[in-house]
Amino acid sequence: MTTQSGAVQISARVLEVCHYGRATQLWLACPIVATRTEPGQFVMVAVPAPGFHLRRPLSVHRVRGDRISLLVEARGEGTRAIGEVAVGDAVSINGPLGAAFPLAGVARAVLVGGGIGAAPLQSVAEALAARGAAVSAVFGFRDAPHARILHAFELPDVSVATEDGSVGVRGTVFDALRHAPITSDTVLYACGPLGMLAALQRWAAEHAVAGYASLEAHMACGTGVCHGCVVPTTWGYARVCADGPVFALSELVFP
Ligand SMILES: Cc1cc2nc3c(=O)[nH]c(=O)nc-3n(C[C@H](O)[C@H](O)[C@H](O)COP(=O)(O)OP(=O)(O)OC[C@H]3O[C@@H](n4cnc5c(N)ncnc54)[C@H](O)[C@@H]3O)c2cc1C
Ligand code: FES
Repeated sequence: MTTQSGAVQISARVLEVCHYGRATQLWLACPIVATRTEPGQFVMVAVPAPGFHLRRPLSVHRVRGDRISLLVEARGEGTRAIGEVAVGDAVSINGPLGAAFPLAGVARAVLVGGGIGAAPLQSVAEALAARGAAVSAVFGFRDAPHARILHAFELPDVSVATEDGSVGVRGTVFDALRHAPITSDTVLYACGPLGMLAALQRWAAEHAVAGYASLEAHMACGTGVCHGCVVPTTWGYARVCADGPVFALSELVFP
């Protein structure tokens, strides 16, 4: 069933499950979604447990052939149940959905990820590197258990900060960003908590660099119909699921 331009609703077989602390990586067999997904897009995943009516949005972490990888952190009951699926289970997904990160014409990129928000940045890194861009990443985590998700990433140049200093530099992602190779043509690609993105918007303005951010929001339909996920922007209210989740940093209006 085609549910949005390019999106399909399918039952995907779980091929591989890896646990990294509170987060779980799922490799799903879904050739059509794998072929159509652009970096930054997400899928709506049905919670494989009784009593959950709404699907949960999860970013596509990476694509390999006819498989996609999702990274899911147990935040509430829905994500906990999704993270408990086993190899061989079938998971209903709807996607790919939303706007992807713009990649054209970028020579240098710095990826900025906060916690599980780093998930879509793996596929951004791969796509930019394939276009010949120089790519660095700075990721921030609360502590070493949360930083275990790094094992799901393959990035040539990544700096890490943890709040307790247990991995990488002590502090926030901005302490790691201080050492990143920022030039006037650098483009930032970010995903993480709202507070981090608001601070990054100010940081980008101070350093005169452009960038994009992927937002999280509570979602119901995930396809632009219900208007349950709107956020303010410089041009009015935008639906995170359909107008985003990727926005230019400069167009976001933070509370
Ligand atoms: C486009 C998009 C991509 C996402 N990608 C990923 C991903 O790759 N991996 C991943 O683990 N999560 C991702 N998320 C977040 C994930 O969808 C939510 O954590 C999930 O829907 C929560 O469902 P739940 O039933 O586990 O928790 P709930 O019981 O619904 O909520 C648990 C707690 O988390 C809070 N919460 C729930 N959803 C959000 C949200 N979107 N933003 C802020 N707080 C929230 C609730 O207020 C509550 O306090 C993404 C969200 C969006 C919008
Ligand atoms: S979740 Fe329905 S419009 Fe975005």
